[in-house]
Amino acid sequence: MRNITFNDSNLKANIPANLNDKDLGFYKWVGGKKTKINDIARFVPTNISHVIEPFAGGMALSINIARRGLVDPNNFYLGDNNDELINFLDCLRIQTEELVIRLLDINAKYGLGCRELFKKAVDTLNGQGADMDKAIAFYVYNQLTTSYKLSDGDYKYNNFAPSLINNNDGLKRHNILKLPLYADLIHPMDIKCRDYRDTMAFAGGLGLDAFMLVDSPYLDTEKASYGERCETFDFDELAKLVLSYKDKCNIMVTIDDDPSHLERFAGLKIYRREHYYGTSKKLKGEWLMTNYDVPCEEYLCSLNGFELEQAA
Ligand SMILES: C[S@@+](CC[C@H](N)C(=O)[O-])C[C@H]1O[C@@H](n2cnc3c(N)ncnc32)[C@H](O)[C@@H]1O
Repeated sequence: MRNITFNDSNLKANIPANLNDKDLGFYKWVGGKKTKINDIARFVPTNISHVIEPFAGGMALSINIARRGLVDPNNFYLGDNNDELINFLDCLRIQTEELVIRLLDINAKYGLGCRELFKKAVDTLNGQGADMDKAIAFYVYNQLTTSYKLSDGDYKYNNFAPSLINNNDGLKRHNILKLPLYADLIHPMDIKCRDYRDTMAFAGGLGLDAFMLVDSPYLDTEKASYGERCETFDFDELAKLVLSYKDKCNIMVTIDDDPSHLERFAGLKIYRREHYYGTSKKLKGEWLMTNYDVPCEEYLCSLNGFELEQAA
């Protein structure tokens, strides 16, 4: 590992040597692009110098780009306005050893997890605990739920999913032991709790080879999932800001195929496909929009089930 050092030699010896091809992220996230990341990653331009992700969430694309070594890890600017998420990432990057040892202790005591453990995590997240306690609770909660809901300080006991444990999932030791590898990967990145407008501001000064992924909350489904944070989300303002960076960097927008977005994002190329969405596995339309020409466009579209809907 390049960025993280360990005092506990026993722990160090148990950390796997590398992440493998199935390691696409280390927590679940509503609207996360983990399961379709390879399709989306093929539409990223080659030769990019910086990555800007104003709606970081599970960071699926940044993790993919960093793991492929396409961009210097110091050149990532990520933000999300979910403070529990960013606190978890801060603790993971800066106090990796303590976080991992405490999670391993919890796993030794509770195994894959149980209702009692989940309740403790909920109480910690809803209370006023120390940052490290909240980070641990965040991870425990995330591994023991299927709702993946961001709860705006209103985490719920009934989001516990016993089915995970019955299926031998939940708080798994080998996933905890992979956390240092992810910590190492994201350690150099600039990841902060900030509004998307502030993260996007980086796009103005990094040069034309910078790449910005705009994966905002989706209009319909995620309103319910993100709670109050999204109730007032202004898609007109988002689109206006995105288009103001149109000549300053490479932009990719991923969003649901609500007709209102067509007018909002006019001027971008729009590719459409249907995909099975979230835990409901409902077939839904999705748009991928770019302000750049995608190389081998026809081939990539047929390979990944997209159709060009609107040329720029
Ligand atoms: C669709 S998710 C991003 C998923 C991510 N690309 C992934 O692969 O997991 C949208 C994210 O936007 C964040 N968000 C919502 N409103 C925001 C705002 N005003 N500023 C910054 N982040 C915001 C949410 O917390 C959520 O994590």
